[in-house]
This record gives sequence, C-alpha cells and structure tokens, in this order.
Amino acid sequence: MKGNVIIGQSGGPTAVINSSLAGIIKAARVNGAEKIYGMHHGIEGFLKEDIIDIGDYIVEDSDLALLKRTPSAFLGSCRYKLPEINGHEDVYEKMFEIMEKYNIEYFFYIGGNDSMDTIKALSDYALAHDKTQRFVGVPKTIDNDLPITDHTPGYGSAAKFIATMMKEVIRDNESFGASKPTICVVEIMGRHAGWLTAAAALSKGDDCSGPDLIYLPEIPFDMDDFLARVKVLAETKSSVVIAVSEGIALADGRFVCELGGGADYVDAFGHKQLSGCATVLTQRIADVTGCKTRAIEFSTLQRCSTHMASRTDIDEAYNCGYSAFKAAQRGDTGVMVVMRVPDREVYTVSYETFDIHEIANVEKKIPREWITKDGTYVNERYLKYASPLILGALTPYFTRGLPKHLTLKNKKK
Ligand code: F6P
Repeated sequence: MKGNVIIGQSGGPTAVINSSLAGIIKAARVNGAEKIYGMHHGIEGFLKEDIIDIGDYIVEDSDLALLKRTPSAFLGSCRYKLPEINGHEDVYEKMFEIMEKYNIEYFFYIGGNDSMDTIKALSDYALAHDKTQRFVGVPKTIDNDLPITDHTPGYGSAAKFIATMMKEVIRDNESFGASKPTICVVEIMGRHAGWLTAAAALSKGDDCSGPDLIYLPEIPFDMDDFLARVKVLAETKSSVVIAVSEGIALADGRFVCELGGGADYVDAFGHKQLSGCATVLTQRIADVTGCKTRAIEFSTLQRCSTHMASRTDIDEAYNCGYSAFKAAQRGDTGVMVVMRVPDREVYTVSYETFDIHEIANVEKKIPREWITKDGTYVNERYLKYASPLILGALTPYFTRGLPKHLTLKNKKK
C-alpha cells in the first residue's frame, strides 16, 4: 500500500474490542503499511488531532497477544455524533485535511450502530468530493443489535459472562430459603434489544435450573402480571431469580427504571442512561410478597470481563479486524464487515462486507418467534443461535496473581 492506516474505537467497550484492533494491526503490518495511527478517543480525539503512532506501543507479536487479553478500548473511546454534512462542510474539510496531513489511505472504525454513522458520513463526503481514502467499519457491541451481521463481536463474551454469573448467583440464592425465598432481580444491559438478557437462559443445564423469568425490551412490560407471577413463585419455590433487561418499558413507553427516578443523562445519540429497573422491581416485589429481595446490576462488569471472554468471540473479533483491512485493500469503502453463519450444527463463519447505509443507526431486535408466547422466556431457537458463541476461553497472562493488561502507558520507543 502507498499510504498509512488510521484506526479508531468508539461506543461502549467490549471484552474483545482490542482483538479487532489487533487484527487490523496485524493485517496492516503483513501488507506493508508504513505507519499505523490510532485515534485517541475515537473521532472526538481525531477532530482535535489527538493521534498516536501505534508503533510506539505495539511492536512485537507478543504485544498483540497481550492486547487481545486487555479489556476496554486500548485507544480510548467516545460517544460522539458527527454533524450532518450539509451546513457543516468546514468540519469535514478539517477532517480530510488531517487525513491528508497523515497520508491516510485506509480509515477503520470499530464500533456499534451509532459509531457506523461516522463511517457513513465520512464515506459519503469522500464520494461527493472525489477523495480517495477508504472507510471500513468493524462491528462491535455487547448489545448484538447490529443488523445484517449474524452476530457482533463482543456479544459472545458478554453472554458467557452473564450466563456464568447467572449460574453462580442462582447457586448462592439457593443456599437459603428454608422458610421464605430470597427474590433476586438481575439487571442486564442491552438498551432496546434483549440479546444480552436472553443470554441468562444459557445458564440452564444439568447443574443449574436457570432464571425463573426473563424479561426483554421486545415485549411491553406489564407490572401487574409480573407481580402476580412473582407472588406465585414466592409461594411455591425456595429460591427465585429473575433476569430483566435495563431497557424494559411499559406499554406507554415509560422505562421501568424511570419509575424510580432513574438517571437523567442522555448521550449524543439521544440514548437515555438506563439503569435502576432491578431496584424499582425489588421494591415492588418486597411490598407484594414480604420476602427478602436483592437487586443486582451487572453493569460495566458484563463488558469488561476479558478474563473470562469467549475464545470464539476473541478469534472472530480478530478476524473481523483482519477482514476489514483486506476489504479496504480490494477497494471497498462505505462498508462494514459482517459475519455469516451458514451452519450452526457444524459452526462455521465467513466474513463479508455490507453497505454501511443499511447498518448505521439501525437496531436489530430478537425475533418474536424466539420468545415464549407469554413473553417471559426465550426458547430453543435462541439457545441454538447463541450456544456456539460462548465456547472456548483464552487464559490471561498473570502478574501479581491478576490479569495483565496493555495500556497506553506502556510506551516502547
Ligand atoms: O452500547 C453498549 C452499552 O453497554 C449498552 O448496553 C448500555 O446501555 C450502554 O452501553 C451504557 O453506556 P455507558 O457506559 O456510556 O453508560
């Protein structure tokens, strides 16, 4: 290649977002890129020309191996929405001036559906102004809500964490309950899609009964029906554990977390911070049942637990990064890498690209047919879909008994 490469990471981090970074870096090196730059804090940092030379931090393949075992966004992330091109041409001119200054030929952005908006805007501008840089998106989100791709890097590891923690929480909760059960409500991320919460069902097996109920944002939440079901469980079981999505909402659109006040924070893409529905629900349950209750919010833990990431997910994230580079090399621009899974019995994945306009800002929900009729669990179709995604593990490197990480403080040159 003649020019250089720049890579950004954007949106909520995942356990494997750095594996995608590692895949792009490896492909760029193998294919003779002279310089590989990183945007410090995504497009927001890029606009301020906060750019680092990745070669200062990642030299050997052993650095890439450690990068794969490092959670959070190594380059720093952002939630930043570029303005519309019309009326803000100066912002775009400035970004392309920066790209020309650094002789950028390929521009990669690792992110979710909001972040793909950046690839869409930049590739549209380039096309309209005869710019030659190529823009390729690399999928990433624990929420698994990107369309077209079978699933999203980051999801498998978060699902593995959720299913594991669910097993452990259920075990703990089953210790008591000689007279009355403790009722435990576990709140799981995922915004308006229930993919992550559905992963609680993966805990069910020979050694675990699984959660008693699963509530997804795809189904309007009926408080009276919910409390009636919990009351029956409280009267008949010695342990009750319920999984709820942070994004469950009443039929009138109000989020359950807002019934308790909730957080007022709204991000650049207009997303409300959804947090606190487990607390709202446990208060109502305590009133109705008189049982001891516990609200558990997995929160950040479900996206940063690289120490128990899925090996399948790590490898796929890496391959998505590698494939993004190959796509740019063959001339693709204005696209995102997507994964296809032709067969789930003998699990295989192929990597393709797809038009970014069909992907940016679009949310993929769980199909209604994968949810039980009464809306309180997922069925076999979901389990068949998700089971292969959580397989395998990659042992961390340890230092002082703790997982070792690569950070921007580890400057080599
Ligand atoms: O987009 C991924 C995600 O983890 C969502 O599931 C969650 O609602 C959101 O990020 C939380 O974002 P933040 O950490 O910015 O509050």
